[in-house]
Amino acid sequence: MAVWDKKILWSFMFLLADAVVDRVHYPPSVCAVKGSTVTVPCSFTPAEDLGGGFMEVIRVVWCQNHEICHGSTPSVFDSNQTTRAQRYRYLGDMKGNCTLQITGVRKSDEAVLRFRMEAKTSRGHFTGKPGVKVAVIEGTRMKIRSPSGDGQMRGGENVTLSCTSTCTFHQLEVIWLRDGHTLSESGPALWLGPLTAEDSGNYTCRLRTNSGSLSQPYSLHVEAEEEASEASDGLPLLVGVVFGVLLALFTLVMVSCIIRRRRAADQRRSGGDEVEQKDPDPLYSNIQVTAEPPEQGGAQPGLTVEDISYASVQFRHKKHSR
Ligand SMILES: *[C@@H]1O[C@H](CO)[C@@H](O)[C@H](O)[C@H]1NC(C)=O
Ligand SMILES: *[C@@H]1O[C@H](CO)[C@@H](O)[C@H](O)[C@H]1NC(C)=O
Ligand SMILES: *[C@@H]1O[C@H](CO)[C@@H](O)[C@H](O)[C@H]1NC(C)=O
Repeated sequence: MAVWDKKILWSFMFLLADAVVDRVHYPPSVCAVKGSTVTVPCSFTPAEDLGGGFMEVIRVVWCQNHEICHGSTPSVFDSNQTTRAQRYRYLGDMKGNCTLQITGVRKSDEAVLRFRMEAKTSRGHFTGKPGVKVAVIEGTRMKIRSPSGDGQMRGGENVTLSCTSTCTFHQLEVIWLRDGHTLSESGPALWLGPLTAEDSGNYTCRLRTNSGSLSQPYSLHVEAEEEASEASDGLPLLVGVVFGVLLALFTLVMVSCIIRRRRAADQRRSGGDEVEQKDPDPLYSNIQVTAEPPEQGGAQPGLTVEDISYASVQFRHKKHSR
């Protein structure tokens, strides 16, 4: 008698447990693009038997738009039937995986699918009531959403662009493009940051399998930030300025050399031998001055153009070493 009471008690508890525990887990909805293949992930837990283990599941069923999926309810998959809808494949098992795959999705596949398991006794029968809503989209165009709205951003900020469609989709591969070029990032959300002016552009997204789903462009404009430009562009700017100054000095030296040679040539033509012998000396002395340490930074009144130029070149060396 005591055993019988215990059994009743257990049964009662299982009834309660079944009312509370959801033995079937699937996503609330799945979005399928017409013509594509979609997988509906699903897992289940068989009812416990009296010994604390699990009851053996002897039949699994998937049906459309039916609350309990029991008896002779038309099904898209029934492990007891040999003739099945070809496009619905059961990828699961009888132990805990109830994954279902739909190939060549049609508009008529749009439905609420429910999974039912059956054991040897009715206590082990269970249907996952909430079901999974399969939405079929066709000729859909994706949309880009952004918290920043108008796409005006400042350098250093972060932004996440979302590629959405009329239903929350699952497992669909989204690709992103900027100004028509595919980005390496994929997935329904594109995270950008910290933003630089180079992130500016027209962004689009689409489903990888459906080029017709290309979204309208979303124009992102990143305004260069003051601090950002100082931090990142400050160094190249300094290098540029230094280089420019050096280039100017170098040009000055070259020009003075040319002038000097031309003058020497003129003197040679007019003055003859005497001037020609005189020439090497100032050149030599100029080089001497250059080799000397900083003093000649203060220009002496007697210095020629060449001297000043060489002194400036010295200055460059100092700056460089610093
Ligand atoms: C269920 O089976 C599918 C297909 O074999 C597999 O991809 C999936 O990972 C399985 N799920 C679990 C939870 O094991
Ligand atoms: C942007 O993201 C980075 C990394 O997650 C974070 O360190 C930074 O504070 C964020 N910037 C802003 C403006 O939210
Ligand atoms: C983005 O599109 C707009 C309008 O079509 C165009 O004026 C703009 O030049 C485009 N921007 C880029 C970076 O291509």
